[in-house]
Amino acid sequence: MTGVGADVRLHVPDASRLVNAVLKRSTGKDSYVHGESHWKRVAAAGLALLSETPEADPTLVFLFALFHDSMRLNDNRDPMHGPRGAMLARDLRGKAFELDEERMDLLAFACEEHTNAGLAEDPRVGVCWDADRLNLWRVGIKPDPRLLSTEAARSNGRIEWARSLQQEPFVWDKLYRAFGLPEGHRHQSGEAN
Ligand SMILES: [Fe+2]
Ligand SMILES: [Fe+2]
Repeated sequence: MTGVGADVRLHVPDASRLVNAVLKRSTGKDSYVHGESHWKRVAAAGLALLSETPEADPTLVFLFALFHDSMRLNDNRDPMHGPRGAMLARDLRGKAFELDEERMDLLAFACEEHTNAGLAEDPRVGVCWDADRLNLWRVGIKPDPRLLSTEAARSNGRIEWARSLQQEPFVWDKLYRAFGLPEGHRHQSGEAN
């Protein structure tokens, strides 16, 4: 995987510090279904879609992967977890990452609405939601192309490709590199899933 641009670096100068800040506040990081291992796979799926969706925004994809399920209280019905994830993002903006008002609103919208199964008109949001939905394989659900917003996610083979995400090991450092971010030094979790 190659870096996707300097914009992410500008907004996330220390990815390791940001991930640790989210892990510290997260109520759902340990869940197999919605926790940290899922966040990494959403980031990885997002990367694949980014390379085929020039209008998408790598910074938003990285931040969405990190925040959207960060504040889940359980793996079942928790309709307010998206809004709580958006609140955490607003709280850490300016402390652990930078983002202008317009894109902060877009990130918040993407987090708040990601569970409502709608399609996104804006491809910057669509890639985020599709990356999340492509990871439905982890709970034995084949992603429905009618619920995917971007051509890249619906394209031949992408849904099948996403099935293998669950078997692949993911470490943050590799994902940072793929997003063009410098590698981190320390992680609270330290795991390799
Ligand atoms: Fe969610
Ligand atoms: Fe998710």
